Amino acid sequence: MNIAELKNKLIEIYGENEEEIRFFRSPGRVNLIGEHTDYNGGCVFPAALTMASTVAVRNRKDNIIRLFATDLNYVVEAKLDCLSLYQSYRWGNYQLGVADELQKAGFMLTGCEMVFDDKVPLGGGLSSSAAIEVVTAVALLSMNGYEPDMVEVAKLTQLAEHHYIGVHCGIMDQFASAMGKKDHAIFLDCKTLDYSLVPLDLAGHKLVITNTNKKRSLGESKYNERRKQCESALADLKQDYKEAEYLCDITYAQLLHSKNLIKNNIDLNRAMHVISENERVKLSVKALKEGDLSLLGQYMIESHESLRDLYEVSCLELDVLVEASLKQPGVLGSRMTGAGFGGCTVSIVRDSDIEGFIKNVGDIYKHKIGYEASFYLSETADGGKEVFI
Ligand code: GLA
Repeated sequence: MNIAELKNKLIEIYGENEEEIRFFRSPGRVNLIGEHTDYNGGCVFPAALTMASTVAVRNRKDNIIRLFATDLNYVVEAKLDCLSLYQSYRWGNYQLGVADELQKAGFMLTGCEMVFDDKVPLGGGLSSSAAIEVVTAVALLSMNGYEPDMVEVAKLTQLAEHHYIGVHCGIMDQFASAMGKKDHAIFLDCKTLDYSLVPLDLAGHKLVITNTNKKRSLGESKYNERRKQCESALADLKQDYKEAEYLCDITYAQLLHSKNLIKNNIDLNRAMHVISENERVKLSVKALKEGDLSLLGQYMIESHESLRDLYEVSCLELDVLVEASLKQPGVLGSRMTGAGFGGCTVSIVRDSDIEGFIKNVGDIYKHKIGYEASFYLSETADGGKEVFI
């Protein structure tokens, strides 16, 4: 739906009045490499996508917030002075969680009417939630006369997800959605939030995103459990590394040296993934900057193996896609992207081989899994901002 159509939708749903209607957009993201490192104080390398969440919004003079989406057939209504009541809503809870967090941070909000057009596949591991959270924050702040500080927006929306949704996610998704830049990937140190934009120059290749179409939800997944296992590994390693605040403060060589301190084998595997993955991110950024795409692809392959065998967040559907992708001509690398347990893979594929890739991987997947995968050739995009008709 384009912006003019979204405006019409808002008027159709809530009626006409004098208040100004404005529009905001915030993207989903694909993570090139650096999975489950963000909440371990490590590095990530995501890029924002053209698949995005767009909202049309108009202020109200009372304290009621009303939400609608183009793929929904009812309006969600909430009062800004009792936002804690709506946590169990199946839809609208992300937006209301953000409003709650903004108010707790001291921002004064008035009521409003919103219509969302969400084009990031839901539950697909491409940060559909972060896109909604960030666009909500940018819209609410802007509509109440605040100039959004986008790093602050990333932090507040991450907290909204912790407090309101109950998923203890890292900051990667919200940061990528807030701070992304077209034609670039973001090399982000999640401990310090230092970041740099790296030109995504893929010299005759494209990122192909393949969706398993296996639905998952982070809340129901083992995400929080993985976090706890990492904390437990860190607690053990602290006997040797007292100063370490996060797992990623420890190098792989140090981990190998002290691995006997980790009592539980599963915790050890989790730590081996996280710390090796963090080192792979840095090497991948270097490879991309030097134009060595084959090396970048190799790190992606290693990343997938580590997520599958050590972190155990892959699944049959993701493994089938990666395995089929790596057999195709012109493919430099392929891996699961996002939290795992379903969602998408990302592959680097030579332009001239993309058509064959989609056909062959699609056929193999359908044959082995029994239903279709979806393929996206989404371009990269800018982070959350106001958009105009
Ligand atoms: C989800 C979380 C992120 C990150 C990834 C895994 O997308 O929201 O913070 O932990 O999983 O890398």
